Amino acid sequence: MMVLTARRLTAELGAWRAAGPAYGALADRIRLLTLDGRIPLDTRLPAERELAAELGISRTTVTAAYARLREAGYLHSTRGSGSVVAIPGRGRPVEGIEARTTTTLDFSKAALPAAPQVAQAALRAAQALPAYLSGTGYDTLGLPRLRQALADRYTAKGVPTDPKNIMVTLGAQHAISLITKTFLSRTDIALVEAPSYPHAYDALRLKARKLVTVTVDPRRGWDHDGLLQAFRGARPALAYVMPDFHNPTGAVMPAGQRELLMDLATCHDSLVIADETTADLRIDGAAGAPLAAYGPAILVGSMGKTVWGGLRIGWIRAQSEEISRLEQARYAQDLGTPILEQLIALELLAEYDEILRFRRVQLTEGRSHVEALFRANFPTWDVPHVVGGLCTWVNIGEPVSSRLALAARDGGLPIGAGPRFGLGGAFERFLRLPLCYPAEETSLAVEILADAWRRVEPSRAVGTEFKPALV
Ligand SMILES: Cc1ncc(COP(=O)(O)O)c(C=O)c1O
Repeated sequence: MMVLTARRLTAELGAWRAAGPAYGALADRIRLLTLDGRIPLDTRLPAERELAAELGISRTTVTAAYARLREAGYLHSTRGSGSVVAIPGRGRPVEGIEARTTTTLDFSKAALPAAPQVAQAALRAAQALPAYLSGTGYDTLGLPRLRQALADRYTAKGVPTDPKNIMVTLGAQHAISLITKTFLSRTDIALVEAPSYPHAYDALRLKARKLVTVTVDPRRGWDHDGLLQAFRGARPALAYVMPDFHNPTGAVMPAGQRELLMDLATCHDSLVIADETTADLRIDGAAGAPLAAYGPAILVGSMGKTVWGGLRIGWIRAQSEEISRLEQARYAQDLGTPILEQLIALELLAEYDEILRFRRVQLTEGRSHVEALFRANFPTWDVPHVVGGLCTWVNIGEPVSSRLALAARDGGLPIGAGPRFGLGGAFERFLRLPLCYPAEETSLAVEILADAWRRVEPSRAVGTEFKPALV
């Protein structure tokens, strides 16, 4: 069972206070952190006295907050094991608030449904399968033909690649986790972007002693001075970045900054991981050259966002010696990637450009709809125009993102509050909006959000009526 210290919980809580009684605000924030996955299920919360001391509030307040969570089913307390986090029956309305919808809307994820080519590719792969049935059916490096096809795509992007530079993985998350477990030691500092993809934080936190951040702004991009200072001050052993259509801001790192990043990494002997999971999702912008064109970065790719998350195929492009080390380390976690999924991926790579064109059409429509609807319904919000990726990082103007996300969730719309994408409770003024849902779903989401916004920011939202913008 994981145990959360009072200090760590306090950092995650961020600016949790709101109007109304403190115990209610504290309970609400812990509930959001639980629903968001920022407090994993079955985690033991700190003892009431310790949390009260760390937060500088009375123990009675913490007791009342825990009691409220217990009543709502978010905490179980058993003798000897303390207060353990749980999630009550899904879909059950929260006390006093009626769920507005029974849809499966979920804006906390930014993922497209399977590309139309997937079903036929799976059938063709099944036909090819008999030739592989005498083998084990899984392997740690990947099918030679798939490694070759992936290597060819990199070569075409300007980074000459041999199949021995490729390892096929069980998606990008597996790749990130394998790289961090293999190359980070417990005394190391890792550099991450803020905001960033939350499960990368999770993977890095498991190993790194400390995470330091460099800010990425949807309009201004990477904080140049921040980058210099982070390398010079913290000397990170590893830097995890998303240079192309960064999740969640959609930003693209300019060529000069790619060069600077790789120079700094070389100078400080840091290993750079470029997560390119969303790099092929261009709408009308262009991705830059892969970081490996500027220095020895490890690249991570995936079919999860381009083709389908249900196809657990990702890959790592690295020096062949690094691939060997990763292979050795892999056995402790998993024994390899299933052959059938690799055969499906191979079929799909032959149609990859067509799939990407299809995604571009979907995302162009999604972006127009999100921009029109949100600008009409939330005129005070800043909705940046992104040129690629699956989401936009919206500034809602007030530091109430967690409360808004909780109110939206209670109305039937899970959505990622800003702090989910930062460390230590940062980004309360931001919300991640996915661009990848059909128009009807986005419209419904806006309705629920408008309602939630009225509850959270009554003074600003009074009289706001839902405006179904036409695009
Ligand atoms: C930036 C980024 N990296 C990695 C992943 C994980 O991808 P996969 O499904 O291939 O594990 C995601 C999924 O959301 C992502 O957005």
